[in-house]
Amino acid sequence: MPKLNKSNLRRQIIHKISSLSEKEKKAIEEKLYRQLFQSFLWKEANVIGMTSSTSIEWDTGPIIEKAWQEEKTVALPKTVPERKQLEFYRVDSFDELSDGYANILEPERNAGKFVHKNEIDLLIVPGIVFDCKGYRIGFGGGYYDRFLTDFSNRTVSIASKLQFVESIPHENHDIPIQYLIREDGLFQVCEV
Ligand SMILES: Nc1ncnc2c1ncn2[C@@H]1O[C@H](COP(=O)(O)OP(=O)(O)O)[C@@H](O)[C@H]1O
Ligand SMILES: [Mg+2]
Repeated sequence: MPKLNKSNLRRQIIHKISSLSEKEKKAIEEKLYRQLFQSFLWKEANVIGMTSSTSIEWDTGPIIEKAWQEEKTVALPKTVPERKQLEFYRVDSFDELSDGYANILEPERNAGKFVHKNEIDLLIVPGIVFDCKGYRIGFGGGYYDRFLTDFSNRTVSIASKLQFVESIPHENHDIPIQYLIREDGLFQVCEV
């Protein structure tokens, strides 16, 4: 049954986000960016892993630009659907991205720009639904659960209050996120 619950929750929250007006969406994004940029997580990170957002997610474009302005390294994933894996590459300009898996903008494979997971200081993990323990519902591919099995640095997700539910049904393979950025602040996930 957990599968069914996950997909229902995912659908409900996608519906909520898509019902926001452009203005409401922008206002939430501004608050989320402010919280992220003033957090110690951001300040202490030199290499930041994140994704290029799709239309129902919070726009990560301004986050990528801010990182470049501050001379941080931006690593974005190339999806390898055959193995359901993510490979991160350093990206220095939006021109380096093109449509990849599920129409997500991705870097090309380039050995010289490969970023090993140990080099990523802070990984911004995308997701649709969250709970206070850091469990998340992603897009259903399990890509980040796989990536996180041997990732040992900091993880954070950026989400609006409207994406939170009391408790997410999680399975053994689900790996919780360590920190959550919301409109109202940065939270370390609770253990209870
Ligand atoms: N570490 C893993 N090893 C093998 N399969 C995994 C792993 N993590 C996730 N999966 C597979 O990916 C599928 C999707 O994961 P799920 O947690 O439902 O999606 P998401 O996290 O994207 O919302 C799961 O049914 C599971 O079979
Ligand atoms: Mg999962």
